[in-house]
Amino acid sequence: MKTTHRATFGGRLSAVLVTAGSAVGLGNIWRFPYVAGENGGGAFLLIYILSVLLLGVPIMLSEFAIGRNTHRNAVGAYRTLSSRWSILGYNSILAPLLIMGFYLVVSGWTLEYMIHSLTGEFTRISTPEAYESLFNAFTQNPWKPLLYTVVFTLLTHGVIALGVQKGIERSARIMMPLLLLILVVLAVHSILLPGGTEGVKFLFAPDFSKVTPSTVLTALGQAFFSLSIGLGCLVTYASYFKNDTNITHTALQVAFIDTLVAVLAGLVIFPAVFSVGIEPTAGPSLVFVTLPAIFNTLPLSMVWSTIFFLLLVIAALTSTISLHEVLTVYVQEEWHLSRRAAAWIVTGACIVLGAAASLSLGAWQWLQLGGKSFFDLLDFVTANIMLPAGGFFICIFTGWVLDRRFMPAELTNHGALRLHLWPLLGMLLRWVCPVVILLIFLDNLGVL
Ligand code: PHE
Repeated sequence: MKTTHRATFGGRLSAVLVTAGSAVGLGNIWRFPYVAGENGGGAFLLIYILSVLLLGVPIMLSEFAIGRNTHRNAVGAYRTLSSRWSILGYNSILAPLLIMGFYLVVSGWTLEYMIHSLTGEFTRISTPEAYESLFNAFTQNPWKPLLYTVVFTLLTHGVIALGVQKGIERSARIMMPLLLLILVVLAVHSILLPGGTEGVKFLFAPDFSKVTPSTVLTALGQAFFSLSIGLGCLVTYASYFKNDTNITHTALQVAFIDTLVAVLAGLVIFPAVFSVGIEPTAGPSLVFVTLPAIFNTLPLSMVWSTIFFLLLVIAALTSTISLHEVLTVYVQEEWHLSRRAAAWIVTGACIVLGAAASLSLGAWQWLQLGGKSFFDLLDFVTANIMLPAGGFFICIFTGWVLDRRFMPAELTNHGALRLHLWPLLGMLLRWVCPVVILLIFLDNLGVL
């Protein structure tokens, strides 16, 4: 196979920021707070952090090692290491395509909400019920969410078309610091609201009476999705790492930033929720219904809600870029096409899937299977089946199938760095991760 000239990320910081851009997304800001809210707050956070460290980091390291060692797209990477295991590569590109189907739709909603906030449209509504009907009317409208899905896909396309360095790397270097800044400003604002400290207590004071085996498994599943583990994103980004990038440090820094963003998002949302006396267990509509209603009770509501939805747009965009890139570089390298043509093919496929997912919530209600809309189906199949399966086989692959020296060699950059925690990491990779993932998997399928 011919090896074409491939781009690399410039500095050490870029590797961290770009990968953190993939990890930080709607999973942190939209999903984490409501899942934590439903599962008892502080206790959930503690279990979540343990899951990130014990399960997330070892698998992330495996994916980094595979990508950086081969410097190829996800399919090419697995095939280079073992032709029999190239099926794992196909799972790694199919999953991002299906995730794009629903993720782009929710991303489109965030864009729509940002624009509504900006034009002051929300200030004309007052009751939480009115926000709820607005949300339902919007998501079920046949063409509006579709339009925003398409716009968001084209935004993503624009960055991808600029290339790995000028598009992906440069946008992450601007968007990630901006995202952190906005989050800190919003969190301080929320905590200072009257009664806001109750929300802080809720997030940090562990209430173990709420912890059940399913809480543990939910935390693990959330860690998985949030760190972008189990599909080709990390392999693909690591294929642009330089050979002297310290992948252990990179993984720990990405895991830290991802968790920090989830905690900060909790600090934006819970104090606000508690300050107006709403229950923190509103579920998925927390961000699109409860929060705008809360903002509306505050002075300068337009400003706060615009900033908040801008934050969601940025977070979503850095993630859709990573999902798009997995597919683009696959089409480019495996089908021998130009990057431009590859990017358009991927964008076209994403728009078709996104449109079908969006319509399945309203005008095309017939588009469902077993009581689940096409939108929910994409979410379910990827998050509950394809990602855990991918993660499981990745552990088996690097822990058992590949040469025992493969991981230590990649972690030390072939002897240039010292290896401190290998016995622990090896054990996590070979035993703890596969067993625990198997449990999540069975629980998600309702077997346990
Ligand atoms: N990690 C992203 C989030 O938290 C979602 C994502 C999953 C992105 C898988 C890429 C790959 O929103």
